[in-house]
Amino acid sequence: MNSFVEKAARLSVAPMMDWTDRHCRMFHRLLSRETLLYTEMVTAPALVRGGALHLLEFSAPEHPIALQLGGSDPVELAAAAKLGAAAGYDEINLNCGCPSDRVQSGAFGAVLMQSPDVVADCMAAMAEAVEVEVTVKCRIGVDDQDPETVLPDFLEKIRAAGVKRVTIHARKAWLQGLSPKENRDIPPLDYDLVHRMKAAFPDMHVSINGGIATLAEAKAQLDAGLDGVMVGRAAYHQPSDILCAADPVIFGSGAVTDPFDAVRAMLPYIEDEMTKGARLHQITRHMLGAFAGRPGARHWRRHLSEGAPRAGVGPELVEEALALVEARAA
Ligand SMILES: Cc1cc2nc3c(=O)[nH]c(=O)nc-3n(C[C@H](O)[C@H](O)[C@H](O)COP(=O)(O)O)c2cc1C
Repeated sequence: MNSFVEKAARLSVAPMMDWTDRHCRMFHRLLSRETLLYTEMVTAPALVRGGALHLLEFSAPEHPIALQLGGSDPVELAAAAKLGAAAGYDEINLNCGCPSDRVQSGAFGAVLMQSPDVVADCMAAMAEAVEVEVTVKCRIGVDDQDPETVLPDFLEKIRAAGVKRVTIHARKAWLQGLSPKENRDIPPLDYDLVHRMKAAFPDMHVSINGGIATLAEAKAQLDAGLDGVMVGRAAYHQPSDILCAADPVIFGSGAVTDPFDAVRAMLPYIEDEMTKGARLHQITRHMLGAFAGRPGARHWRRHLSEGAPRAGVGPELVEEALALVEARAA
């Protein structure tokens, strides 16, 4: 296969509800040309029954971009995938990893690890419905499942349904007793299992996710034989550390980008979005980490987080904050 989106999946920024909205993705895209970006999870019922097509909006520069769907009904997911493909997404992904509440049509997220046949039916229906790649993001298991048996069975079934690419969050989800946040930290990581899955399924494109905190760690995972690395929280909180050198280091193309340039390149976007009704804070809240760990980071963060929610402020606030960082960096 080796499609452009598969190549982009060497490094991806994880789907994160309330975080990886289109403003966030636009900023990430200005830091890395090549990295694959995921939407927040959008539920199939919201699209298909609720008609919430505004959830699919994105800007052309965000490509390569994947839509993550939540759902467990093959017919509804196929319809949602079609809507996603028509909206221009490069990939449609099914969430089998979020420990989430049940919805009326059944269950979705990590609980699907208990129903690999349902996942296979969903993926087959989605693959049939769209031309773009359909992929899965999963855990290594849930609750008292044994990942050593559950995960290979799960992969075998989705592969038979036509899935060629999977991202594995290398820890279990505990469906009882842990909050979604605790479920990202408390169940132990098992990177070794993900590497063994790659060895067992050499024809599948396998990405690893969970706890990867630096670009060097991401590179080491690729060097150790995996096809892709997905980074979540580190990419959000320290976007420049993960993304500025991603193009040359991970993709062997382009140059290291500069967060100052990326922020400046956001200014016309911010102006444009504000004329369409966005508020400054909705955009800049995703840029607070732009200078994390660098001189002036605190001034940047404070100026934006205190100023941006005020009425009547616009891109000039970002320029002021940038001047504060420049003064510290000089
Ligand atoms: C705020 C937040 C929201 C998340 N929302 C989603 C989501 O919508 N879909 C999903 O598959 N995973 C979601 N996740 C999980 C991440 O995609 C990722 O699997 C997890 O954070 C582990 O990766 P990390 O250690 O690199 O952050 C979310 C994580 C966070 C922090």
